[in-house]
Amino acid sequence: MADPAISTENLVKTYGRTRGLAGLDLRVEPGEVYGFLGPNGAGKTTTIRLLLDLIRPTGGRIQVLGLDPRRDGVALRRRLGYLAGDFVIDGRQTARELLTYLGNLRGGVSRTRVEELAARLDLDLGRRIKGLSKGNRQKVGIVQAFMHDPELLVLDEPTSGLDPFLQQEFLAMVREARAAGRTVFMSSHVMSEVQQTADRVGIIRDGRLVTVARVDELREQAVRRIEIHFEDPVTEAEFTALPGVSEVAVVGTTLRCRLDGRADALVKAAAGHTVVGLLSEEPDLEELFFGYYSREEVTGAAA
Ligand SMILES: Nc1ncnc2c1ncn2[C@@H]1O[C@H](COP(=O)(O)OP(=O)(O)O)[C@@H](O)[C@H]1O
Ligand SMILES: [Mg+2]
Repeated sequence: MADPAISTENLVKTYGRTRGLAGLDLRVEPGEVYGFLGPNGAGKTTTIRLLLDLIRPTGGRIQVLGLDPRRDGVALRRRLGYLAGDFVIDGRQTARELLTYLGNLRGGVSRTRVEELAARLDLDLGRRIKGLSKGNRQKVGIVQAFMHDPELLVLDEPTSGLDPFLQQEFLAMVREARAAGRTVFMSSHVMSEVQQTADRVGIIRDGRLVTVARVDELREQAVRRIEIHFEDPVTEAEFTALPGVSEVAVVGTTLRCRLDGRADALVKAAAGHTVVGLLSEEPDLEELFFGYYSREEVTGAAA
């Protein structure tokens, strides 16, 4: 198997008496989009800053692209795209001037690539940075992370400050990076945006990884509301006993129910009739996400 894109072993970081990370074991595979989820104060930024060697660990091991961030920082920086959670820029220069400067430092950045990314994010490169809104500064941060087409993108809360339309555009850029074989590690405290793009999510809480799951598996476990429209009337009795199906209500030719997990049994039962239409809401994985949290609390209390 290929080297992981990121791996940490028993990573510990304390800030004086405050605990930042309490033994984090992380493994991000090459080519995947990994969503690093957790509430404020969980340790996401601490982890990311350790990966970039911006701060030093109290204990444990870190490898990024097979290298040691502490020894091989210079080599790594060329291969990484990084967006800080508190990305701050200021100054009289224009966004174009700043990005050209950063691009020249890094090398391998084409002007057209910068123009393309800026156009997608609706960022006016000709404006002075000091006059840009918070959202527009965040766009400059995103462009500088993506512009050299790095092997690994490490993004700390990248969508904060972006309006919903641009969040979608950003998520499309993440999917394209994956399609081009890149690895993306992005943190967030909102499940809904991560579930649209991530292959896996790791949930961090109090400096520890609480769980790691594949998003498609989470989706399979999730509860959703289903509505099926048939050509002819159906009966509730045909559907009530199916695995995962509950709260069945039939009104004429319309069936509404709750589906927990796989849709197979319900779909096969429905297929015994002529199905005119089917609506399935996209499950919100937030509920499952908080489910993991409370389960952890129960075990924590018992220990
Ligand atoms: N420079 C620092 N000095 C002291 N404590 C810090 C510092 N940075 C982070 N912490 C603490 O470490 C914990 C994790 O913070 P952080 O990594 O910023 O979380 P997140 O990014 O998930 O919101 C929090 O309790 C935070 O208060
Ligand atoms: Mg943070």
